[in-house]
Amino acid sequence: MKELSVNHLLGIKNLSHDDIKLIFEIAIKFKEVINRPIKKVPTLRDVTVANLFFENSTRTKLSFELAEKRLSAEVLNFSSSNSSLSKGESLIDTVNNILAMKVDLVVIRHPDAGAASFLSKHINASVINAGDGAHEHPTQALLDCFSIIQKFNILKEKNILLLGDIKHSRVALSNIFCLQKLGANVRVCGPSTLIPKYITKLGVQVSHDLNDSLNWCDAVNVLRIQLERQNLKFFPSLREYTMNYGINKDLLNKIGKEILILHPGPINRGVEITSEIADSKHSIILDQVENGVAIRMAVLYLLASKIKIS
Ligand code: CP
Repeated sequence: MKELSVNHLLGIKNLSHDDIKLIFEIAIKFKEVINRPIKKVPTLRDVTVANLFFENSTRTKLSFELAEKRLSAEVLNFSSSNSSLSKGESLIDTVNNILAMKVDLVVIRHPDAGAASFLSKHINASVINAGDGAHEHPTQALLDCFSIIQKFNILKEKNILLLGDIKHSRVALSNIFCLQKLGANVRVCGPSTLIPKYITKLGVQVSHDLNDSLNWCDAVNVLRIQLERQNLKFFPSLREYTMNYGINKDLLNKIGKEILILHPGPINRGVEITSEIADSKHSIILDQVENGVAIRMAVLYLLASKIKIS
């Protein structure tokens, strides 16, 4: 049986092209399963998964939990807001207490970059990064790329635009790594204050011209303006941001070609994208959510298989 080259999913940077292909192959099978009348399989019946969320989440948390339940795993849910962290307990103590309950896989979201990697070095369980600060969000990038491939059949040589708040976005970094590993051409576009200087070292194109970028691309992944991560003002006002970088119907009509629209969520409707476009036939935002469950089932299955083998 084919297996992943890694024991943890900490970021796309650590994955090979074959790893990504394998995850997609398995996700296609699980997508069939979750579209059957009976959506549950006994694959992870003996596996216990802890979902540790130290930062808010809707999509990722529900998607992992559903993926685990569809695979018949035992599921423990932890969220920092109602935990003993508020009494001063450290991350490692919290996690070791959870692991003493014989947990096999840990899914962690944390506001600090590197938290998932740190954890993987200190605990005897497989770790999945569900988003660490502004670093990586690997399952989001996998589901984004998978969703584009489901529409175009291929990513190689496709022009993919990442639009908006690149600086504060873990989705952007994971997408860049994943898209490039799959052979896509990647461009980032946004105000210069929201595009970090190091980005050119990653081999992506940089533009501040939305019209030109939309003319160039086959698909655009519209990123959320992450106001909660912005201590400084990176643009004069949300209104000005929307005027220069918001996606709306008039703009797309002027481009005059079909562009696939993605958004990782949560959406600031009327800021980075209008409702008319988010809910239009060009948008695959809800496909992304559906594919997210299949991708996470594939990642859980592949990492759990390695635990059973070793
Ligand atoms: N896309 C994403 O990570 O959404 P959540 O923050 O709701 O999990």
